[in-house]
Amino acid sequence: MQINGRTKIVGVIGDPVEHSCSPPMHNAVFDELRVNYVYVPFHVKAEDLQAAIEGFKALNVAGINITIPHKQRVIPMLDQVSKEAEMIGAVNTLVFESDRIIGHNTDARGFIEAMYEVLDEKISGPAVVLGAGGAARAVVVGLVNAGFSPVTIANRTTSKAIALAEQIEKKSHATLFGIGLDDEKLPDAIADAKLLVNATSAGMDLSLPLIIDSDWLHQDLVVYDIIYTPPKTKLLMAAQNSGLQTISGLGMLVHQGAIAFELWTGISPPIETMRNALIKALEKPVVD
Ligand code: ATR
Repeated sequence: MQINGRTKIVGVIGDPVEHSCSPPMHNAVFDELRVNYVYVPFHVKAEDLQAAIEGFKALNVAGINITIPHKQRVIPMLDQVSKEAEMIGAVNTLVFESDRIIGHNTDARGFIEAMYEVLDEKISGPAVVLGAGGAARAVVVGLVNAGFSPVTIANRTTSKAIALAEQIEKKSHATLFGIGLDDEKLPDAIADAKLLVNATSAGMDLSLPLIIDSDWLHQDLVVYDIIYTPPKTKLLMAAQNSGLQTISGLGMLVHQGAIAFELWTGISPPIETMRNALIKALEKPVVD
């Protein structure tokens, strides 16, 4: 990588940010394509967010990814927010135009593009999403925008599932239901579903029991876990043992990054370069 007077800067802000695998993922493509950009991490605390955004603008930074805890609180600081980001209520990518800052959310489309990369043919129809947190919001918006309906959201805290279903139903043409993970309607919803998505953080801990009963899995179901560490969660293992098609969360991480890359550079990046860099970064945690 050759940094010179024309190098454009993109990056990610978060607190913490050290764990981010986005710098190696994007820089691998800048290197390969010899595009004169560099992607850097910025550790920004919540109370410094406004100053950081103004600073990026003053420094002519080209684009920024936003991660926890800034994805929602950055919205009032922007000139425009994309329809998807508005629906999700969170922004993960900023594009700095000459006089405007535009907020996007690439998670919903990244989730769908990663799914269609794996499946031979497009599916639609009923879907079940486990979880109702930040990640689930993007998944649900991706699903309704891709034509899935009805979407049943099942969450440990039932009230959050109901609230999310109501919010997204108002903003879409889809039918949504919010229920508890312990609701007796959940096995029926899964029985009818073409797609089951885990969007809870529960699968990250392999010592926790499976979040649903593996007997509810059926041959018509695709099982998608948006977790990428570990690459194979208990849910994906159970689904594979039953012979079902499964999708892990790594592809979503790659594709949300690829969409951001294209928003900044206008170039559609090589997905395999991003994926390989990401896998390498996940294998080798950062040391100072
Ligand atoms: P993220 O940004 O990853 O979505 P989040 O907004 O904190 O993180 O949401 C975490 C999700 O995982 C929530 O749906 C949470 O359920 P609650 O809303 O009831 O807290 C879910 N979750 C986390 N640990 C869980 C567990 N052990 N069993 C079931 N659901 C769990």
